[in-house]
Amino acid sequence: MAGAPQKPLKNYDHLFANIIPYFLGEANRLPLDYPPRLLWQNNIDEADFREKIRSSPSDIFKKTLGLYLNIPFCQHRCVFCCHASHLTVHKLNDYFDALLKEIDIYAHLLNKTPFKSVYLAGGTPSLLNEGQLQELFDRLHAGLNLKKAVQFSFETGPATLNEGKIKILKKNGVDRLGLGVQSLDPAVLKINNRPQDTRQVKHIFDLARKHQIKFISLDLMMGIPGQTVDSFMNDLKTLISWKPDVLHTNRFKPMITTVFSKTGNRLSTEDEQRIKEMDLLSRPLLREHGYHATGGHQRSLDPAARNIQLSDAIQFNSSFIAIGGFANGHITGAYRYSNHGDVDEYIRSLGEGKLPIEKGYKLDTQKEIVHYLFTSLSMGKVSLRAIELLYGKSLNEYPRIIEKLKYLESRGKISLHDQFIKSNMTSLEENTTYLQYLFCDDVLEKMLQLAEAEGIPIDRPQDR
Ligand SMILES: C[S@@+](CC[C@H](N)C(=O)[O-])C[C@H]1O[C@@H](n2cnc3c(N)ncnc32)[C@H](O)[C@@H]1O
Ligand code: SF4
Repeated sequence: MAGAPQKPLKNYDHLFANIIPYFLGEANRLPLDYPPRLLWQNNIDEADFREKIRSSPSDIFKKTLGLYLNIPFCQHRCVFCCHASHLTVHKLNDYFDALLKEIDIYAHLLNKTPFKSVYLAGGTPSLLNEGQLQELFDRLHAGLNLKKAVQFSFETGPATLNEGKIKILKKNGVDRLGLGVQSLDPAVLKINNRPQDTRQVKHIFDLARKHQIKFISLDLMMGIPGQTVDSFMNDLKTLISWKPDVLHTNRFKPMITTVFSKTGNRLSTEDEQRIKEMDLLSRPLLREHGYHATGGHQRSLDPAARNIQLSDAIQFNSSFIAIGGFANGHITGAYRYSNHGDVDEYIRSLGEGKLPIEKGYKLDTQKEIVHYLFTSLSMGKVSLRAIELLYGKSLNEYPRIIEKLKYLESRGKISLHDQFIKSNMTSLEENTTYLQYLFCDDVLEKMLQLAEAEGIPIDRPQDR
């Protein structure tokens, strides 16, 4: 790497260690967004946003565009769940009408730009009745170009599916069905407020096979309240015997959004130990049965069955259009944004013909590169060639980033090589603390303001 001016950088490790709970509390999914979600602003310029989509700013946008559509409603709230969803199912019909309006707006803006991946999720999208499901697919296929999509996923809880709905999924191109199992142990399900019958789950799994949905992915939680190592391992063995195409073993994250945390619970050292044990025991068993790591907590029999939208987001920092409440989107080189979670606000915006964007952040190439470094280093490694291919720029064109990378290397956190950069960090907390050195100046300034507002003493930067 080319030389760069070496200015001393302020040491904010302590500050960031203090901010981590806010940082991670806001981000209920990985990879972490950059700029961090807790800095996103409320006043996105909708006219500019629409124009950026209309003019599809970059090639990356076109090659790996994803559609993420969210139905954030559930019949009950599982104690472990960190995802945003509403129990006000009586509002689903009005929500659905607004959702169709949002699809129409994007249909107009995108003018048949092809999507590479589609991901319908929730909450519980199978709460839609058969008529609504068909109407949703009709509207999507009529307005958007899904013809070249290489994957069409539908992720839901099994309790609200039936054969009629599965037939509709199949008929309309869904080729990957994600079913949340979470646990098969009646005592664990009860503690977690999750009404679910194992026979019903297996029945739905068998129906999806009967109707030849190409890939089935099952989610099993690891370390939720009431779950012992034996209970988890028994469930895992049972699910392996069903031979799903993908198995997710999701390590329980006690985010501030879970009922678990809201009611004052914390994981004890023994709980953490138990989760580690589950993880250690599950790995060889999954490998032995042909399940190999395919990103995140996914283990797949065939790499093609992995969540392609997720791997595109990690590998290519891809664009994805967000439709539905709470949904997050990314328009390469232009915006990261999220929609209103509040149902009434979501419906009201669309009723006025406005996009239901609640928050966002305007991007430029440097921010995109920092995001790419941030997520890739969180995963362990980043290729310098990949940066050049994605952004048409060499890292050497960003001396400030080079300087910060060298600083991280001097602290032993990363190693710089000719072709790649490798992370030596091992935990999310460590990544979050140290990767702040890559933040662009305006983003870092906002983080400092946030820290001040929280009463965390900071030494104001003179040299940034
Ligand atoms: C958005 S949820 C949808 C699940 C679906 N509604 C269901 O009932 O099965 C997607 C997945 O996130 C995982 N998940 C939920 N809360 C989690 C948490 N606190 N930590 C880790 N994974 C979690 C679950 O395994 C779940 O299947
Ligand atoms: S796990 Fe599924 S059903 Fe349970 S609260 Fe979360 S999204 Fe709703």
